[in-house]
Amino acid sequence: MKNYKRYLVTSALPYANGPIHIGHLAGVYIPSDIYVRYLRLKKRDVIWVCGSDEHGVPITLKAKKENISPQEVVDKFHYLNKKSFEDFGISFDIYSRTSNKIHYETASEIFKTINKKNGFEIKTTEQYYDEELNQFLADRYITGTCPHCGNEKAYGDQCEKCGTSLSPTELINPESTISGFKPVLKSTTHWYLPLDKSEEFLREWILEENKNWKTNVYGQCKSWLDTGLKPRAVSRDLDWGVPVPAKNADGKVLYVWFDAPIGYISATKEHTKDWEKYWKSEDTKLVHFIGKDNIVFHCIIFPAILKAEGSYILPDNVPANEFLNLENNKISTSRNWAVWLHEYLKDFENKQDLLRYVLTAFAPETKDNDFTWKDFQTKNNNELVAVLGNFVNRALVLTNKYFKGIVPESTNLLDEDKAILDEINIIKNKVESSIENYRFREALNETMGIARLGNKYLAETEPWKLFKTDIERVKSILYISLQITASLSIMIEPFLPFTAIKLRKFLQINKIEWDNIGEEELIHTGHKISKPSLLFSKIEDSDIQIQIDKLLKTKKDNLKKEQSLVAVKDNINFDDFQKIDIRIAKIIKAEKVAKTKKLLKLIVDTGINQRTIVSGIAEFYKSEEIIGKQVCVLVNLEARKIRGIESEGMILMAKNSDNTLSFISPDSITDNGSQIS
Ligand code: 2FM
Ligand code: ZN
Repeated sequence: MKNYKRYLVTSALPYANGPIHIGHLAGVYIPSDIYVRYLRLKKRDVIWVCGSDEHGVPITLKAKKENISPQEVVDKFHYLNKKSFEDFGISFDIYSRTSNKIHYETASEIFKTINKKNGFEIKTTEQYYDEELNQFLADRYITGTCPHCGNEKAYGDQCEKCGTSLSPTELINPESTISGFKPVLKSTTHWYLPLDKSEEFLREWILEENKNWKTNVYGQCKSWLDTGLKPRAVSRDLDWGVPVPAKNADGKVLYVWFDAPIGYISATKEHTKDWEKYWKSEDTKLVHFIGKDNIVFHCIIFPAILKAEGSYILPDNVPANEFLNLENNKISTSRNWAVWLHEYLKDFENKQDLLRYVLTAFAPETKDNDFTWKDFQTKNNNELVAVLGNFVNRALVLTNKYFKGIVPESTNLLDEDKAILDEINIIKNKVESSIENYRFREALNETMGIARLGNKYLAETEPWKLFKTDIERVKSILYISLQITASLSIMIEPFLPFTAIKLRKFLQINKIEWDNIGEEELIHTGHKISKPSLLFSKIEDSDIQIQIDKLLKTKKDNLKKEQSLVAVKDNINFDDFQKIDIRIAKIIKAEKVAKTKKLLKLIVDTGINQRTIVSGIAEFYKSEEIIGKQVCVLVNLEARKIRGIESEGMILMAKNSDNTLSFISPDSITDNGSQIS
């Protein structure tokens, strides 16, 4: 273990082209806030930086779409996001932005230093250019047919169907996703970071010296390194970003992933004159908190940039998280499938800590995880209300009731009382180790162990039964209960900072040093506490139903949008139409196809004959409900075997906007076999 003197903590700079949602919080900002708040309580020397990432093509496209400037886009989201973070107690030392002058200077300086050392390769290549837009196209903005699997929607950098990495020129029939036009090849010059030359150092540094990194992080790095690194362009032809500070670089800016991590350095500079101590001394522990999609940039590319520059330290750890899903679906800004922080607070006023608690408990630390509103309610009602709130309330209410809010004396502590203090110290050590090893879910659970311990102690000692008979014993019990509460008020601070403040107010204390946790007299005999109010309140079914309904509406809206985007099929002529034979038929028998979820085996009377049809409707209709129903059947569809059953025809169904299926039935009883024309 290295002997560090100070900490520099960074959290991924979110793009300033959309608001912050629960996925951001759970993946990056809550873990880093817990870590930093803990370090501060430990009185360690720490700086925590973050800010808006304000460059890149998506921001320019959003600006174009909304007919405003890129600066206007980033201004709007920079302030919105800064406020969201503040509202949730995310306690950065500075929240800066990459459109600041100091950032332009810092990024340019670093580029120039590397360039002076001949640390870049300058290459001229042919790249796709969109003549409609007059701009070169980033790989993601070109689609075409994958030469390996024929997928017509492969991207210029990767085919998501077969997983092959591609370069745009390999695509068959390339198309600009922005204008829809066919791009042309045009030559352009760029500065490349020769990552291949850093491979040896990166292999040694990551694979040998940093074996303690989280397995998801280490694994992803190893796979990049094993595939072999290639030179990466660090400049782009674009008019939004930090201009490339070199000769013959008109119209070129630094690639957003070159300048964004340098934003950490600019933010530190903006925060303190002493910034070099944090970035250039080997006794600083640098930790990058990020999501899994940022691993390669923080573990491979940024370290290669810093190494090429020559005077900066590299991270001690990069505890990246996986992704959080919402109700079993990927969070998506464009599909509005998210819980936005600013909207959450409208529905759950002053309940920031509740969301922090749930997102920590369900943090995607080792694998993708799911947030559901049901879990949100359960965690609140069964843990925050029933365990933490309940214990604190009992300890404080009883002290007020029996001793007018004065902390009683503790002359006769029994072994079982002293054992409680020992237990708190054991938990404290465990929480320390969990936090220092970036296991925040575990740390939260251990912290709640103190509240569980308190509840158990009160349940076993039952002071309310002793008040009339053994007041001395009641004094000891409440004395210990208040010590537990005081320790809790410190230990919960990294996780539930708003609750910690309330609790300290109830207790009328302002001790907030980690090392005070578990002290025998953390709150003194004779000290007056105040009257408590409830720390948490129940979340009702109706509260979460509102949220679930919101999501259902989003789902419906998305499907409607998608359906309206489904292009009308190519025209057919009347002869083609005449080939289709659709008739009214009656379902006379229905049963589930064994070992399937979706299939029903139907016997229908088509007026011509009785025939078997296998239909994928079992999720929407029960067999017994549909017997006797008249439906439309395509009767001249070639027979085919489905799960070993010969299916002769197809039942026609309407696909609804929520993806459910409905029969198309005549509006009055009709003869079976009636033709639809
Ligand atoms: O993925 C993202 O949201 C990026 N804006 C993260 C940048 S992190 C750092 F390098 F600035
Ligand atoms: Zn493919």
